[in-house]
Amino acid sequence: MKTSRRDFVKKISLATSGILINNITANNSFSFSKSNNLMAVSTWDETIKSTQKAYEILEQNKSSLDAVEYGIRVAEDDPNIRTVGIGGYPDENGIVTLDASIMDWKGNAGSVAAVENIKNVISLARLVMEKTKHVMIVGNGAKNFALECGMKEENLLTEQSKQDYLDWKSKNINQNRIDHDTIGMLAIDSKGNMSGGVSTSGMAYKMHGRVGDSPIIGAALFVDNQVGGAVATGLGELVIKTCGAFLIVEKMREGYSPEHACKIAIDRIKKLLKNNERTQVGFIALRKDGKLGAYSIVPNFSYCVAKNKKQNIFYSKYLLKN
Ligand code: GLY
Repeated sequence: MKTSRRDFVKKISLATSGILINNITANNSFSFSKSNNLMAVSTWDETIKSTQKAYEILEQNKSSLDAVEYGIRVAEDDPNIRTVGIGGYPDENGIVTLDASIMDWKGNAGSVAAVENIKNVISLARLVMEKTKHVMIVGNGAKNFALECGMKEENLLTEQSKQDYLDWKSKNINQNRIDHDTIGMLAIDSKGNMSGGVSTSGMAYKMHGRVGDSPIIGAALFVDNQVGGAVATGLGELVIKTCGAFLIVEKMREGYSPEHACKIAIDRIKKLLKNNERTQVGFIALRKDGKLGAYSIVPNFSYCVAKNKKQNIFYSKYLLKN
């Protein structure tokens, strides 16, 4: 099963400006040689404009790191994407706090957590990676660093997010999360180099100070340019406890296909679920040679793929029926 070909994706269709929509089936051969195939992938169909932006940057012969940063910024800038950047769901105190991480093909990494009033935390994570000797900066330290670097302070709580928060509070709804969260992106540039990034406002109405998997290197994000990369979305606590992205990359190194490696990580998470518990975690894995796979706990985990000047949305296979 390790290297078998599989039809692991199901096209749904979507037209976006200037990009043709088609089916693709992952059947690339397994090899660690450099690929000239530009490619950008991201979690959830609503981030398709991010994937498109990343692909445009790759086509300009820029690096996968630029593609990931500027691709993810599109989602962070969009107030209608309610789980990333401006307009993200706030925590239980009504405060929007953001987490992000980034990793390049040289093994460099940067991340930020629990950041308030700074919208483009993916860029802040890159600044941590490139301008400090550290990997992770959190809270006010991260915000102050952002301001020192010239980033702008802004209110991230939109009227819609505020209204939703007040509704949640008034109804005392005993449910504090929405499955649809986190942009995770992987890209391969014209030199065959891979980078990855993740950005989120995290679990809706989370405990103030809660940090999820997104800024934890090895949990929601891991890239090893010899092998490939993986990103996660969904309930971060489960991803942290299983070192999901790192596990997937190591399984690909052992020879498992990207989809199979993602399933192994989901199987580990399943062991943590109580009887009949239904929650969502989804992984995408991209191998160095461009072979792609995904897997989730429950249905409806969608992801975007930009490749060969085409853009597609797929749904992953899943472990449990809803
Ligand atoms: N996966 C995002 C979070 O749990 O915060």
